[in-house]
Amino acid sequence: MADSLTVTDNRTGESYEVPITDGTVRAADLGKIRVDDDTPGLAVYDPGFVNTASCRSAVTFIDGEKGILEYRGYPIEQLAEHSTFLEVAYLLIHGELPTREQYAAWEHEITFHTFVHENVKGFMEGFRYDAHPMGILMASVGALSTFYPESRNISDPENRHMQIVRMIAKMPTLGAWAFRNAQGKPYVYPDNDLSYTENFLAMLFKMSERKFEADPRLVKALDVLFILHADHEQNCSTNAVRSVGSSQVDPYSAVAAGVAALYGPLHGGANESVLRMLRRIGTKDNIPAFIEGVKNGDEKLMGFGHRVYKNYDPRAKIIKKACDDVFEVTGVNPLLEIAQELEKIALEDEYFVSRKLYPNVDFYSGLIYEALQFPPEMFTVLFAIGRTPGWLAQWLELVQDKEQKIARPKQIYTGGRGLDFTPREQRWA
Ligand code: CMC
Repeated sequence: MADSLTVTDNRTGESYEVPITDGTVRAADLGKIRVDDDTPGLAVYDPGFVNTASCRSAVTFIDGEKGILEYRGYPIEQLAEHSTFLEVAYLLIHGELPTREQYAAWEHEITFHTFVHENVKGFMEGFRYDAHPMGILMASVGALSTFYPESRNISDPENRHMQIVRMIAKMPTLGAWAFRNAQGKPYVYPDNDLSYTENFLAMLFKMSERKFEADPRLVKALDVLFILHADHEQNCSTNAVRSVGSSQVDPYSAVAAGVAALYGPLHGGANESVLRMLRRIGTKDNIPAFIEGVKNGDEKLMGFGHRVYKNYDPRAKIIKKACDDVFEVTGVNPLLEIAQELEKIALEDEYFVSRKLYPNVDFYSGLIYEALQFPPEMFTVLFAIGRTPGWLAQWLELVQDKEQKIARPKQIYTGGRGLDFTPREQRWA
């Protein structure tokens, strides 16, 4: 069996043999198929990149049909149960698990870089009281590039490492301050005696107490949520990071693009929309009418469906379990009942079954976040903090990949051609 595709172009009768590698054909090989020298070669039309591989990657594996997710080959279930977010970040960035010494050094490095320049605080204070924290986060991550102009030197491995450490370390500080801004509360500086996740909670919620202490079960739950969000191969925001990064801009600017993409309601913004949806449904009795509305195309069942998973999202399963641990501490979120009933009805309904629409990571995460006292506007910020190591691991892979080029898709032009321009005085006469 030859690993190739034989294509006959019926326009010319010409046959071509196109090699197949790793289950893909090279779009450039299809470009060799042309009617004559004056017409462009055959291209692939793929809005939304539903069937186009943009890179080779060794970071994250997903089997959407079977509901499998692995970071660097390790199943997400095992990482969520036995690892920590910082260890997972190390794994994603370095490609392998750290030794005891490597982990200690990594933890120290990240802890050491949690502070931001005082001027960052100054400009964050300039946002309006009702500014969305994701808007603040997006702007402030991008602005970090001006504080570290050496970050433009992306070909130097040591320099790259420094920016990666800085970004993973500073994201919680920026995220927490964006939250405090909305609350009109003073910003809390990092406490480097605390773990990564506990320090984040302290910067969010500390008031006048001398030392902030969080319930370890809540710290663990948030750490697990960060792990679950840490990477997800070529999703919309990662593709944005790679696409912007392909211009060889500094990593802060590339990650700011990732934050922007994540902000959208079809991506990271979905968990915020789920909570608003559950609140709008209000009681279990209203679910059938809501489902009818979804089936009629009036709206979407937020937190359901995924481009890749055509099965239960493995992250949603873990979150559903984590809900129990959190609610044991905080008391049950009354919206949980509506979510569970909604899931039950949807999973039995032919509309959702035939389209293979299952709960995704965002369906239950909002319920936990709310129990942890986060307002809905903060949900996507939490996603962004978790996703930062993934964005950076993918960015690192991109800048070291000799096959990568500046991202520049083709288009099918549908507009007019060669029109004669009539000056305004004549057009408006
Ligand atoms: N509610 C109702 N119908 C849906 C939904 C939904 N949530 N998702 C997909 N469908 C329908 C869609 O209308 C289409 O139906 P038809 O074939 O009759 O036109 C079919 O299912 C296929 O959907 P699609 O829009 O072609 O799928 P996609 O891969 O382009 O979109 C998605 C994936 C995640 C954007 C979409 O499922 C969606 O909008 N879900 C709701 C938002 C959401 O929960 N997003 C979080 C994604 S997971 C976290 C993350 O990665 O950010």
